[in-house]
Amino acid sequence: MIDTVRARRCFPSLQRRHNDLPVIYFDNPAGTQVPQSTIDGYATYFGLHNANVGGAFATSRETQDVIDAARQGMADFLGAASPREIVFGPNMTSLTFDLSHAIARVLQPGDEVVTTRLEHDANVAPWLALQERGVTLRWIGINPETMTLDLERAAQVIGPRTRLVACGYASNAFGTVNDVHRLADLAHAVGAWLFVDAVHYAPHGPIDVQALDCDLLTCSAYKFFGPHLGILYGREEILEELPAYKVRPASDELPGKWETGSGNYESMSALLGTLSYLRTLANGSGGSESEQLHSAMTAIKESERTLTERLLAGLASLPGAHVYGLTDPTQFDRRVPTASFTFDGHRPEEVAAALGTRGIYSWAGNHYALEPLDQLGLDATGRVGLVHYNLPEEIDRFIAALGEILGAG
Ligand SMILES: Cc1ncc(COP(=O)(O)O)c(C=O)c1O
Repeated sequence: MIDTVRARRCFPSLQRRHNDLPVIYFDNPAGTQVPQSTIDGYATYFGLHNANVGGAFATSRETQDVIDAARQGMADFLGAASPREIVFGPNMTSLTFDLSHAIARVLQPGDEVVTTRLEHDANVAPWLALQERGVTLRWIGINPETMTLDLERAAQVIGPRTRLVACGYASNAFGTVNDVHRLADLAHAVGAWLFVDAVHYAPHGPIDVQALDCDLLTCSAYKFFGPHLGILYGREEILEELPAYKVRPASDELPGKWETGSGNYESMSALLGTLSYLRTLANGSGGSESEQLHSAMTAIKESERTLTERLLAGLASLPGAHVYGLTDPTQFDRRVPTASFTFDGHRPEEVAAALGTRGIYSWAGNHYALEPLDQLGLDATGRVGLVHYNLPEEIDRFIAALGEILGAG
């Protein structure tokens, strides 16, 4: 289990106070706080190694070392077979558009791409764009009572014309964790690739791309205690085969062919700090760096379970509350502690603003999850998302504050 008190000490921003009380960061799905080691990564890079790559001098070589180490670190974090399978970019959305542009060059009119009604739009719009090339986009539906995928019908949606199935690992609006293994089986049975948006899952549990049997996967380091830096994993043969858009002098080799222009080397240095923090959570479990990261993320997953239970029980106790998604505790291994809710007679924005004045940070809006909110007939929900550094007593303060806000309405 995670020693939360010790973990919190690593995050300077968690010391922030509002009216003599600690700020409560429940805005994590939009970006987590970072440990000191992430911050130090920037200072180290700019203070010691700052240069562009390819030069015959020390700082240029050191910058290449930072890039290589960050690439290996992400291969370890994701369980990839080789660092050549890791591509860095500005964020998940840009990397996914780059990928969809490259895929567009090999698809034929009449080919099909399948996504789901549970996605963040960054896993919809890049595939919708393929319709310009005559590609058909098909949808796996959801069960609105639980905000889970309708996998029964997925087998009918994925068919002989399917070339790619794009699914989220966890929903950024409802916290649902999808059965990615099953989708990999369905995609591979028809010879399609599986693309996984792991942005929301990454801070909550271990990812093993080989065990998941996915072909492509993206995540974003600012969602897992790191800097703004997007990461794309792709099976080596796929990254080799796809025609990426690149400038002519840039390398045709992996992964350079996917990384257009100069990289964000300072953020790669910061990412090394993030990964080193995460390894400390493995509590000296030993093994390779990859095994330590896996143990740390497994410990995070286990310790978040009690946060999920307390959060959902608290929300359900409030008058006029509607909590969307999996609310049955026997199903909590299928969700992370991210919850969407509305209250009768109160707009989500109004509730989030009232929480903000109490130093409790949350979100209201569509969370870029346009399709699932549409399925619920909603234009906005309130949303909180907890991570391993959050405390049970923060949940109690949040629920008490909601009680006051709703009572005052
Ligand atoms: C599930 C999910 N996918 C994709 C994204 C987009 O990530 P990025 O900001 O790195 O483009 C987000 C961001 O909120 C997200 O939550």
